[in-house]
Amino acid sequence: MSILQQLNQIFTSERVLTDEDSLQTYGKDWTQVYTPNPLAIVFPESTEEVQALVKMANAEDVALVPSGGRTGLSGGAMATNQEIVVSFDRMNKILDFNSVDRSVVCQAGTITQQLQEFALENNLFYPVDFASSGSSQIGGNIATNAGGIKVVRYGLTRNWVLGLKVVTGAGEILELNHGLIKNATGYDFRHLFIGSEGTLGFITEATMRLTSIPKNLTVFVLGVTDIPALMQVFETFQNTIDLSAFEFFSEETLSLMVKDKGYARPFETESPFYALIEFEVDHESKEESALQAYETCAEEGWVVDGVMSQSLQQAKDLWRLREDISETITPYTPYKNDLSVKISKVPEFLDKVEERVTQNYADFKVLWYGHIGDGNLHLNILKPESMEVSEFFQLCSEISSEIFQVTSDMNGSISAEHGVGLIKKDYLAYSRSTEEVELMVSVKKIFDPKGILNPGKIF
Ligand code: MLT
Ligand code: ZN
Repeated sequence: MSILQQLNQIFTSERVLTDEDSLQTYGKDWTQVYTPNPLAIVFPESTEEVQALVKMANAEDVALVPSGGRTGLSGGAMATNQEIVVSFDRMNKILDFNSVDRSVVCQAGTITQQLQEFALENNLFYPVDFASSGSSQIGGNIATNAGGIKVVRYGLTRNWVLGLKVVTGAGEILELNHGLIKNATGYDFRHLFIGSEGTLGFITEATMRLTSIPKNLTVFVLGVTDIPALMQVFETFQNTIDLSAFEFFSEETLSLMVKDKGYARPFETESPFYALIEFEVDHESKEESALQAYETCAEEGWVVDGVMSQSLQQAKDLWRLREDISETITPYTPYKNDLSVKISKVPEFLDKVEERVTQNYADFKVLWYGHIGDGNLHLNILKPESMEVSEFFQLCSEISSEIFQVTSDMNGSISAEHGVGLIKKDYLAYSRSTEEVELMVSVKKIFDPKGILNPGKIF
């Protein structure tokens, strides 16, 4: 029997797509570098169907690529080589909720925002958040250990996963950690699957932890003179008040948001960088503390102007200046860097990278933004209109090696939160030792002996 006939046997025929439109849509994520070329797209509805598919793929030696909300930026969900794409769109149900455990069991295809809204309906909060929450899926978030804008307070997706159901590359179904908080019974495989980019198994269900809803989230946007000043502002605010976000963007980035989106500047005064700070104001004294921190920063000359939200709507509008950057710059075909170092090393790191950038990208528009409160900087180089995409990416990737060397010298990461996928795999050695990569290859062989799961990703 042909592979397509077998797929039609495992799934009903309307859940196997081979038309060109579907192949092009489901065969890719948000990276703009690769050409999708899958064999077929399938839409399982249960863990057992995923297991049957994996068993068939092993028998036929055909590769499978997991596909969530396809919002990834590293090519981790690209199918370029006649793979079968496994979309979790139909596994999007919330299966169970327990208010005492503050936990929710959801299928892998549950949209992040669906989980966030479900939590709020139950007077709780799912805190992992990013611009793509409206379309990214929980399974994809876990597979990439997604970070986002609240890491400073709530950590990464890993912190919120209490349990996983997975189908390994060998076709076993594993139930990992059973939603427990404490479980000291040997290796915690749950954490191996988190961030494994679909190379070890397919996550089909997850038990996610929820927390209390933060009260009266308030946003301060400050104009800051330079990066060392930005770090002083971070320290001052962090020592004064518990922060739930500390983000930054450059003046070039803000100007583009004003020009292309028509967004209002937070205030008239221009400055090289802007900090976006979020915190809970559950008591008057918190607002006073934040204003005091602002006064200190202004007196020191670190901050030139600022605005504090006076309503939820104003807070949301200020967030747009940061959250909508990624989508707004997409038409410019950006070459994206997602770097991290220890927070304390950010100024030195940024200086060194900036030096390489001005030497090499003199003719290119360079945008800085990111999650400076957790040491994660996004450096985006925009393609000049007249330049071919391939030439532009080639030029950028040559210069990347220099930037990655600086990152490596400072024990930083060449992919802080977007993952390795296809786009960073040639550079993995800048962040991971040969021994580590060899061990990763060995681990993959245990869970996926025939190498059918997302082959060619990470290493
Ligand atoms: C962000 O922080 O906006 C996202 O990681 C996406 C991006 O880097 O463009
Ligand atoms: Zn980011």
